[in-house]
Amino acid sequence: MTAPILRKLSDLRALTAAWHRDNKTIGVVPTMGALHQGHQSLVEAAKAGADRVIVTIFVNPKQFNNPEDLANYPRTEFEDAEKLDPFQVDAIYVPDPAEIYPQGFATTVSVAGLTDVMEGEFRPGHFDGVATVVAKLFLQTQADRAYFGEKDYQQLMVVRRMARDLDIPIEVVGCPTVREASGLAMSSRNQRLSADGLRVAAEKHHIMRALVQAVQSGAAFDTLAAQADTDLRSAGFTEVEYIQLRCAETLEPLTHADRPARLFVATWVDGVRLIDNLPVSRA
Ligand code: PAJ
Repeated sequence: MTAPILRKLSDLRALTAAWHRDNKTIGVVPTMGALHQGHQSLVEAAKAGADRVIVTIFVNPKQFNNPEDLANYPRTEFEDAEKLDPFQVDAIYVPDPAEIYPQGFATTVSVAGLTDVMEGEFRPGHFDGVATVVAKLFLQTQADRAYFGEKDYQQLMVVRRMARDLDIPIEVVGCPTVREASGLAMSSRNQRLSADGLRVAAEKHHIMRALVQAVQSGAAFDTLAAQADTDLRSAGFTEVEYIQLRCAETLEPLTHADRPARLFVATWVDGVRLIDNLPVSRA
């Protein structure tokens, strides 16, 4: 059975109010569409963790710092609905833009600290856009649990902080990154890579894994990062924005893996920006 597509907040509210009256828990999976197996893994987790599941699809203009990126972002609603069929979700919320940003909308949710670095530094305004739309989606869906990918680890941390700080009664659940057989993290942006670009992109995972192993055996990060930068550029990346080791909890920078950590890398190939991260155990 195909899930109903809702475009109005009033219709969504009617549904979620009825579910809560029946004591059903609600899980939400926020997405921007162009669904792939990474998104589908979140839907599976939501199905296992909640009685009713809503997938939201909204290409959020406020989180794109680059107008070209927004214009090029794939919009594939029909295919997305088909890809959700096997999972039997209970509703697909594709809000009319005015349901999210009505005339006169003037509020921004901004999380300090966590957003100063990495994606926050290279994509000014991005996390304000994310935190604002996700706060709205949490409040609109009235969900009990929300499922996010570790693929966007910094986003996961920002969203968790936001929900806690605003007392939104929702549990934010993080789910592991789904990868292609090559190791490349699945992403809607991979569709824009040429065959050559895909080969280059797949190299990143191997370079990152080697770096994680070296850090875990106790080596200092700075020298390793400089080598990885060279390796990424020789593999064919046109730009390496950052290679960073950070605490998995607070995202503070580390020179050694002296606590549970995370390696973060952002690179460009074929004019496409690709981010990835890996867990690093204590050395
Ligand atoms: P989008 O890029 O569509 O991603 C939706 C969710 O899917 C995010 O939680 C993201 O981390 C997760 N995801 C993407 N690729 C994944 C992969 N390979 N493995 C596991 N999970 C993956 O992230 C956004 O949309 C937006 O910022 C959003 C949160 C919807 C707010 O607009």
